[in-house]
Amino acid sequence: MDRPAEALAMLAPERERIPIDDPMRPLPYAVQHVAHESGDTFTLLLRAAGERAPVPFAPGQFNMLYVFGVGEVPVSISGDPARPELLLHTVRAVGAVTRALQKLRKGDVVGVRGPFGSAWPMEAATGRDVVIVAGGIGLAPLRPALYHLLARRERYGRLALLYGARTPRDLLFRRELRDWRARFDFDVEVTVDRAGPDWQGGVGVVTKLVGRAPFDPEHALACVCGPEIMIRFTVQALLRRGLSASDVWVSLERNMKCAVGLCGHCQFGAAFVCKDGPVFRYDRTLPFFGLREV
Ligand SMILES: Cc1cc2nc3c(=O)[nH]c(=O)nc-3n(C[C@H](O)[C@H](O)[C@H](O)COP(=O)(O)OP(=O)(O)OC[C@H]3O[C@@H](n4cnc5c(N)ncnc54)[C@H](O)[C@@H]3O)c2cc1C
Ligand code: FES
Repeated sequence: MDRPAEALAMLAPERERIPIDDPMRPLPYAVQHVAHESGDTFTLLLRAAGERAPVPFAPGQFNMLYVFGVGEVPVSISGDPARPELLLHTVRAVGAVTRALQKLRKGDVVGVRGPFGSAWPMEAATGRDVVIVAGGIGLAPLRPALYHLLARRERYGRLALLYGARTPRDLLFRRELRDWRARFDFDVEVTVDRAGPDWQGGVGVVTKLVGRAPFDPEHALACVCGPEIMIRFTVQALLRRGLSASDVWVSLERNMKCAVGLCGHCQFGAAFVCKDGPVFRYDRTLPFFGLREV
């Protein structure tokens, strides 16, 4: 053997040759629990296999979840950042990989890479009113921000959650929504597009709630997540209320492969959604998302 690198590689045990902080290497996690949220949506509780310590994450970040033999998809972390040992992902089954995730049961193993990406602006929100606007599955990436804000409630001004789903049966985290609504220091408004006679809440798109939400536009910050069309109309409504584009933050979804800014799959203009996002300050998205008309 005359090539020293190869010789050294053969001498080193396999586990030492692979750097453990390699962001491209999925690590095994076991499914601890699967919670049914709605018809097509479920929450996976994952635990690192072996003795690995829990990995801290910031509200808004995502992991790449790999179903062996099927594929890998980006999914936001939906749990409490103060409890990284309870790694939660809330997933809507829409295609090959997310349906394979839906079939997982306790004890099954998935590969996890991450956490990746930018976070909701929790520091910038200090001392201000905070408006959280979520559409459908968009509540999942915002839930860690809500945990963070509620755990430090005294640091913020008024706090409002405006949440819209297709029907009452599509609402996520229903028990938590009930608990949050019971608080005097948190305004929670829920609306659905279509409802039956049993529904006591609002009906209509979530953007309609922005006009009467309790916040002072001069001293507020908004975080918005949901389908792109919902984000567009919500931002319009927030700007009409007087919020500045630099006080609005949005989370964007794009197809991903590497999740670390190498492959270009998620590239838009100068930005990579995987590493510059998924959470962007809205005014900074204007040049590369071409949304100047909003
Ligand atoms: C940063 C980031 C965070 C994300 N967080 C979450 C999350 O917390 N929970 C979650 O459920 N999803 C989340 N997603 C979306 C998730 O990654 C996609 O749903 C997933 O990649 C779809 O893969 P698939 O193989 O199941 O479906 P594919 O086979 O790729 O797609 C099947 C069909 O579904 C459509 N489709 C793909 N994505 C979506 C979608 N998001 N909504 C509706 N239809 C879709 C496709 O157009 C196609 O027609 C996130 C995406 C990004 C980029
Ligand atoms: S997913 Fe590869 S650059 Fe973003």
